[in-house]
Amino acid sequence: MARILPALASQIILFFLFSATLVYGEEKGFATPLDRKQHKLRKEKLSHFHFFFHDIQSGRNPTSIPVVPPPSNSSKTAFGVVFIFDNPLTLGPKLSSKTVGKAQGLFSSASQEEFALLMVMNFAFIEGKYNGSSLSILGRNPGATSKVREFPVVGGSGLFRFARGYALATTHDLNMKTGDAIIEYNLYVFHY
Ligand SMILES: *[C@@H]1O[C@H](CO)[C@@H](O)[C@H](O)[C@H]1NC(C)=O
Ligand SMILES: *[C@@H]1O[C@H](CO)[C@@H](O)[C@H](O)[C@H]1NC(C)=O
Repeated sequence: MARILPALASQIILFFLFSATLVYGEEKGFATPLDRKQHKLRKEKLSHFHFFFHDIQSGRNPTSIPVVPPPSNSSKTAFGVVFIFDNPLTLGPKLSSKTVGKAQGLFSSASQEEFALLMVMNFAFIEGKYNGSSLSILGRNPGATSKVREFPVVGGSGLFRFARGYALATTHDLNMKTGDAIIEYNLYVFHY
């Protein structure tokens, strides 16, 4: 008995070592745990970004274009309409103020009863160290019916890898005749 036990123990240890190697071997190809520090994920920061979004639908150089008309004009909410935009983002409310990036994406009327847009967009920044980095936003936009609209920041690229947060949008100026709008944005973003 006294001699069998140590032999058994070493068998068991060998078995576990072997199965651990198997599991590790399997994980190496498909999913591998990584060290956060080696991937520059040391300290998460919270940043605030403030700028103005220019949705220009009129004139010779519109930046926001209807690409799919609503299927019928019977709907009050223009349900189904799709706009694609490449809208300037500026530091101040004037279009002539410093450009910090572009908002590229689409909005679509996605509600049949009340006015609500589906917003899908990337904020592609060119300012300072954020040049080349972008934030991705996906949200519901009840438009001017709500003073402050909130959209989730669902991710990002470059300096915004692993980003998450929210954007608050308020109308700075809206021309009901042309549809042109200047929207003030405040973003609160966790990133590394
Ligand atoms: C659409 O608009 C046109 C012109 O205003 C009108 O004649 C027509 O009846 C409308 N159609 C519907 C389905 O409301
Ligand atoms: C941003 O980066 C691009 C590509 O590296 C460069 O061409 C451009 O001048 C930069 N813009 C600003 C405003 O720094």
